[in-house]
Amino acid sequence: MNTGLKMRSLAIALALATALPSHAAETEAAPVPLAARTWMNTSLSADKRAELALQAMTQQEKLTWVLGHFGTDFGTKTKKHPAALPSSAGYVAGVPRLGLPALFETDAGLGVATQATKTPRERTSLPSGLATAATWNRDLAWKGGAMIGAEARASGFNVMLAGGVNLLREPRNGRNFEYAGEDPLLAGTMVAQQVKGIQSNNVIATMKHFAVNDQETGRFVLDSRIDDASNRMSDLLAFQFLLEQANPGSVMCSYNRLNGVYACENDYLLNQVLKKDWGFKGFVMSDWGATHSTVEAANGGLDQQSGWEFDKSQYFGGALEEAVANGHVSQARLDNMAFRVLRAMFDKGVVDHPVAEGGAIDFVAHTLVSRADAEEGIVLLKNAGNVLPLKAGAKKIVVIGAHADVGVLAGGGSSLVYPIGGNAVPGIAPTSWPGPVVYHPSSPMKAIRARAPGATVVYNDGADPAAAAKLAAGADVVLVFAQQWVGEALDAVSLTLPDQQDALIAAVAKANPKTVVVLETAGPVLMPWVEQSAAILQAWYAGSGGGEAIARVLFGEVNPSGHLPTTFPVSESQLPRPKLDGDPKNEAVRFDVNYHEGAAVGYKWFDLKGLKPLFPFGHGLSYTQFSYSGLAADQKDGKLRLSFKVTNTGAVKGKDVPQLYVAPQGARWEAPKRLAGWDKVELAPGESKDVSVTVDPRLLAMFNSRSKTWRIAKGGYKVLLAHDAADAKAASITVQLPARTLDVNGK
Ligand code: BGC
Repeated sequence: MNTGLKMRSLAIALALATALPSHAAETEAAPVPLAARTWMNTSLSADKRAELALQAMTQQEKLTWVLGHFGTDFGTKTKKHPAALPSSAGYVAGVPRLGLPALFETDAGLGVATQATKTPRERTSLPSGLATAATWNRDLAWKGGAMIGAEARASGFNVMLAGGVNLLREPRNGRNFEYAGEDPLLAGTMVAQQVKGIQSNNVIATMKHFAVNDQETGRFVLDSRIDDASNRMSDLLAFQFLLEQANPGSVMCSYNRLNGVYACENDYLLNQVLKKDWGFKGFVMSDWGATHSTVEAANGGLDQQSGWEFDKSQYFGGALEEAVANGHVSQARLDNMAFRVLRAMFDKGVVDHPVAEGGAIDFVAHTLVSRADAEEGIVLLKNAGNVLPLKAGAKKIVVIGAHADVGVLAGGGSSLVYPIGGNAVPGIAPTSWPGPVVYHPSSPMKAIRARAPGATVVYNDGADPAAAAKLAAGADVVLVFAQQWVGEALDAVSLTLPDQQDALIAAVAKANPKTVVVLETAGPVLMPWVEQSAAILQAWYAGSGGGEAIARVLFGEVNPSGHLPTTFPVSESQLPRPKLDGDPKNEAVRFDVNYHEGAAVGYKWFDLKGLKPLFPFGHGLSYTQFSYSGLAADQKDGKLRLSFKVTNTGAVKGKDVPQLYVAPQGARWEAPKRLAGWDKVELAPGESKDVSVTVDPRLLAMFNSRSKTWRIAKGGYKVLLAHDAADAKAASITVQLPARTLDVNGK
């Protein structure tokens, strides 16, 4: 078996259906002449075009659109579909007779990934999704999306499986690095921008993994338990914001069950919430290995079975044809499934702008896009005595650990973008799924050296803490790089840095108080050495230009402006689940994950329980300072608008993220306060800017499941203008809101 091949579904070995793909015996209907292809009329709406195309189709052709194939050989038993792009995630055959192209699918949110790393596509990788979220910069998220969407198109793909917005409920979740943090407004908004950027290339993006797929351990069997109202105000709200703001062409349902029913046959989730309540017009594809039935899935709202080779059967092949023939699935339902795929193709420009492989990619320009994202996503967590930015004139700089001499770490699994120039540190276990462990060859040390021509810059791998400490003693500054590798299908076993890196940092910091820690982690980690270190930089998985980005922040070429999109706890005992549910060694047995915290996710949980985090949500320092004044509120057309002034009171140019939180005084929410808005502003020293933010009314309301409405309770609401979620010096005003009832979409 190919080493890079996915080994995700235990069911696979038993599963391989012997049936030929159902479209093998494709229609013999005659090609429709160009002039008669009414659906190619670009002046018609996507709905009309999809309707016309559907009318021209045979039953076999309709069935074509609902069955996806894996784009890579599946073990020794199944060869990839011959028309799929090599080592790709998926393929859905088109109908050439009608001029309708196939769908060529690629992962994911950080860029164009490759399934089998024997023959990888080398492409530009964005920093992790959490890093992009940490920029709080909508424009950068859009640019990153536009860049990876362009690479997808140039690589021959017209569907990107990108748009991951699962809420960070579980800091140990191995896929947090693909997502955008713990707050529904921040996550939904930032990923929406990325999706818009991707789709600006006439490539369909995919909102995923729908829904409450918030840990990897046991993901194929677990049952996420959460009540409807809590879900609508947390996980589902992030999806709802994304959908409204970016209108993705497709949605991927997830592996897990939700309240007892698999997500990909969950009528509540797919038919009621997504399609009916939210009016989603695109198609729902399953995750690879997440389809479990024909009739339940089709009637439950799934429109397309993806990578059927991962499932026990070709559920949406011959079995679906038969189910329609005998009436278990209606013809209207099959028509609607195909219609939804076609509509998305017309709507996103996939039909009018066909893709081709081999397009030119400007990797230098694209690496700069990724670098800009990484630079703004880096969070300066601590900077005692202004040890940063690094001073010119240092004579000896010691760099320790995490292979910082050659590259920056990437996360594992289907989202891994294989680096341009290859893996900087090959051979680290696991070398197969969800490995290989990959480092982008963007060396922090090289970039540091280039900025300190008068200094001796030496590297130590950190394997022997005593030796590292010895080297560190007497240096002008020590930079310890620490890392945490996780990936899809693999949660972090704990939030403690692995491989005794805590001991390494403690030993080095003891030997030299000028110790700066640079963290390359998926998400939050514990920091028992926090007091001993002089400065801490959260650099996440930093992507193709990561080494340069880190060095530019360290030297002050870039003033850090990242803010945490997630709370960093002091210890795991502070979490709603001090211990992760499930057993990574036995993933076959079904179990429940009881999301008893409801909508009180992240900082909301910490507020509710009166817990003091290590670093709060929203935290991030700068090399300058900002002050706020003039917080005021008005209500226009029933909407709360907040305005204020931000001033750069320091000596260097910088970017700030003023954050607005709202806390009800009488009404009871899931937690004391919620993020209601923010802005990112760049200011020269002494400069001020006026900012105004309109609050989505859903963020002032509680969801009522019975009436499916959002209700704002009459009363006083405290508005806080803060630097982070735990800012004790936040400015505040109190506004009075009238009672209001809004529909399910906050209208
Ligand atoms: C992942 C999806 C991915 C798909 C195709 C699955 O394992 O969960 O995020 O898009 O594979 O590679």
